Amino acid sequence: MESFPFRPRDIHDELKKTVVGQDDAIRELSVAVVKHLVGHSAGNILMIGNSGSGKTTLMRSLEGFLSSRYDTTAYANVIRINANVLAEERQGYGKAVLGRLFANAKQILGASASAEQLIHSVEHGIVFIDEVDKIRAHVSGEPNVRGIVAQEALLTLMENENVEFDVDGRNHAINSSHVLFVAGGAFEELYDSVLRRATIGQDVAPMRPIVVVSSSGEVREELPFHLRDYLRYEDLFKYGMTPQFVSRFESIVVLNDLGEGELARIFVEPEKSIFRASREYFQRFGIDLQITRGALVAIAWDAARQKRLGARALRDTYRRVIRNLEFDPAEGQTVVTVDEEMVKRAISGREQGTAGKR
Ligand SMILES: Nc1ncnc2c1ncn2[C@@H]1O[C@H](COP(=O)(O)OP(=O)(O)O)[C@@H](O)[C@H]1O
Ligand SMILES: [Mg+2]
Repeated sequence: MESFPFRPRDIHDELKKTVVGQDDAIRELSVAVVKHLVGHSAGNILMIGNSGSGKTTLMRSLEGFLSSRYDTTAYANVIRINANVLAEERQGYGKAVLGRLFANAKQILGASASAEQLIHSVEHGIVFIDEVDKIRAHVSGEPNVRGIVAQEALLTLMENENVEFDVDGRNHAINSSHVLFVAGGAFEELYDSVLRRATIGQDVAPMRPIVVVSSSGEVREELPFHLRDYLRYEDLFKYGMTPQFVSRFESIVVLNDLGEGELARIFVEPEKSIFRASREYFQRFGIDLQITRGALVAIAWDAARQKRLGARALRDTYRRVIRNLEFDPAEGQTVVTVDEEMVKRAISGREQGTAGKR
């Protein structure tokens, strides 16, 4: 048997260049993708993680990896879509996804590909569905038609061996039951309701807060809550995902909330990190931008305080620190260093700003 050109670990190592933390999720996804590509069945994956924890980044990097490997492009037909698109189905259930897979197959395989080759590529595609939590079947007690339509559309694809689909004017039966689906969403209220159950101790022993000391020396109480320890399938039903839909996912992967250390790494390490981009901006003016350890810790600390924003908070914090310098890069200077003092000033500026508005 010809050996497959890469192993799950290779995907993992590549993804680590853009994704900080989330190792369990990366491992699980890497294995599922390799299984799928070598023709074994790999169960669909549902990824749950708070906003700004890296869901979209993860999907995008994996998509990028698979579409850039010259040795697998011939059979890795990968698309990434927003779940909302499925709620706009006018052509009939599932056609939006098949249409995208088909267009992608054409692009990968070229104009000379036969209908059979194209269909084979579509039938073995990998589909990332982002923001799947937006297609709830009900929202605050009312049925949500768009969500119901979208979940049905996906279900049709996930279990159907015979979806009618038009290929260049000719009708074909597509077996979409082997397509690999990886769906991701924040499921915000789900998080809250499970947390409530865990803290008041309904059905479970109530959680006790633990005392943590942050790297900046601040002491606070935190609940050692990890969604994955308490999540049950019923929680997803209650949230508005239908049992039929949820049962189509073989595994549920819960991403970790990012801590200060991870936020600091996200700020500087990845190829397209906020700080690298900022350095590039200043290089245009012949300025070498540097940051002190203390400044980095303070930025990560401030971002970590802003609950529910995850790594998205970094951008806001840093914008406040750097905006004056961006507007007026220090004339004649060759090195500019962002230090802790600058960060603290920016943070307290924001706090006074909001206090003043109230
Ligand atoms: N684990 C992570 N590793 C690297 N960058 C991350 C991570 N989580 C979030 N980010 C950064 O934060 C921003 C939002 O992340 P995103 O993946 O879109 O979050 P979401 O989980 O809401 O989809 C992006 O700019 C991304 O670069
Ligand atoms: Mg996202």
